[in-house]
Amino acid sequence: MKISRKLLVEFDKKYIWHPFTNYDEWKNEDILIIDRGKGNYLFDLNGKKYLDANGALWCNLLGHNNPALNNQVSRQLKKVAHSTFLGSTHTPAIELSQKLIDLLPDNNYKVFYSNSGSESVEVAIKICYQYFQLKNRNSNQDIVVSLKNDYHGDTLGAVSVGGIDIFHKTFKKLLFKTIQTDSPYLYRCKLQCKTHEECSEHCIRSFDNILKKFHKRICAIIVEPVVQCAAGFITQPKGFLNSIWTIARKHQIPFIVDEVATGFYRTGTLFAFEQEQIKPDIIILGKSITGGYLPLSCAIINKKLSSVFSGSFERTFFHGHTYTANPLACSAAIATLNEINKKSVAESLKAGISALRYQMEKARNFNFVGDVRSRGLIGGIEIVKNKPTKEPFDPKLRLGRKVCLTLRNFGIITRPLGDVIVFFPSILISPNEISRFFRSLETSLENLKT
Ligand SMILES: Cc1ncc(COP(=O)(O)O)c(C=O)c1O
Repeated sequence: MKISRKLLVEFDKKYIWHPFTNYDEWKNEDILIIDRGKGNYLFDLNGKKYLDANGALWCNLLGHNNPALNNQVSRQLKKVAHSTFLGSTHTPAIELSQKLIDLLPDNNYKVFYSNSGSESVEVAIKICYQYFQLKNRNSNQDIVVSLKNDYHGDTLGAVSVGGIDIFHKTFKKLLFKTIQTDSPYLYRCKLQCKTHEECSEHCIRSFDNILKKFHKRICAIIVEPVVQCAAGFITQPKGFLNSIWTIARKHQIPFIVDEVATGFYRTGTLFAFEQEQIKPDIIILGKSITGGYLPLSCAIINKKLSSVFSGSFERTFFHGHTYTANPLACSAAIATLNEINKKSVAESLKAGISALRYQMEKARNFNFVGDVRSRGLIGGIEIVKNKPTKEPFDPKLRLGRKVCLTLRNFGIITRPLGDVIVFFPSILISPNEISRFFRSLETSLENLKT
């Protein structure tokens, strides 16, 4: 029996608790029920077509219902859907690991799988902490350094290293000790820096001072490389990441790059850290790794750290989950890695990046647009009450949300980060589709009632 849309809406609103979603707003919203997807589009139960400009929350890499991914996952489904990774292994995970290692500058790494970005952040932090414990039983290197405005997920370890007040401040008392260091954010720079370089230099100096003072207590540094996505796509000035990595290396402190959002060509290169010629000790991948099909993430750990875990039983890393390295998810990831090597993907990416750069600059002149920030094929458009003074809107007005609901009427799906409108499509989006997104955004902002 087919359940009517009306009943589905009723059941959903009555029984389901949606993530990052206000109860009352959801209750009063004409909610979107997705039925199917094809390429860069999603279709609702009524058959209405939407451009997915949010990439199913930043993970859909190669379009929905992609035949290559469908085939690989279907083939694996006929073999086995899941078997444990604790004490046994399977071909999809081995094949995937080989492919991931081949993407790195050398093969001195080990891959540790999990199911979400947040979990891999936990893994990376725990490994760094245990590394120092194993090297010295009396080690008190237990502080993690992260950047202000970073986001690393929602589990408590990931929240501890997060730097976005609205998501993190409620849980402060439950968190472990960290040091948050300044990160460059020219548009809202507290020191009123005039240039990206000035902003960057200040942040590098404060990072250097923190490491000079506390390096004997620090067990890890974790950063979002090149773009701080969840804070509103704050882009780092060139050279910033390389400078802080060089300082970390001088003090021999493990450097973790969280590429959960930025990995897999989102910022133009396969991994964002490549743009800064650095060699991280741990690389965290998630989201796009399965093309946005199934939950999978990993922390890729260098030999310097992993080799310390070899030896007696107490050197075991006691961590893992029921669905670690799920074979279906691994097979989706294998297909994704095969697809992104294709020439057609590289060509599409190049065209998309230059179209986005052009449209973003034009969008500076739209009503209410205070700042536009992008790298590669991702970006955010920040709306403000007063363009010259940068005065933000009252957050209670929820204007970012209102703009996104209007965009939905135009057949476009995205989600705001406060008053930053997100553009995070598949890397196969065409220049025409990008231009359609911006035309609709311009109209939505022309009609915005403040
Ligand atoms: C940089 C970064 N790290 C970690 C996470 C958390 O990933 P997940 O939602 O899969 O736990 C996110 C999610 O948006 C992210 O953007």
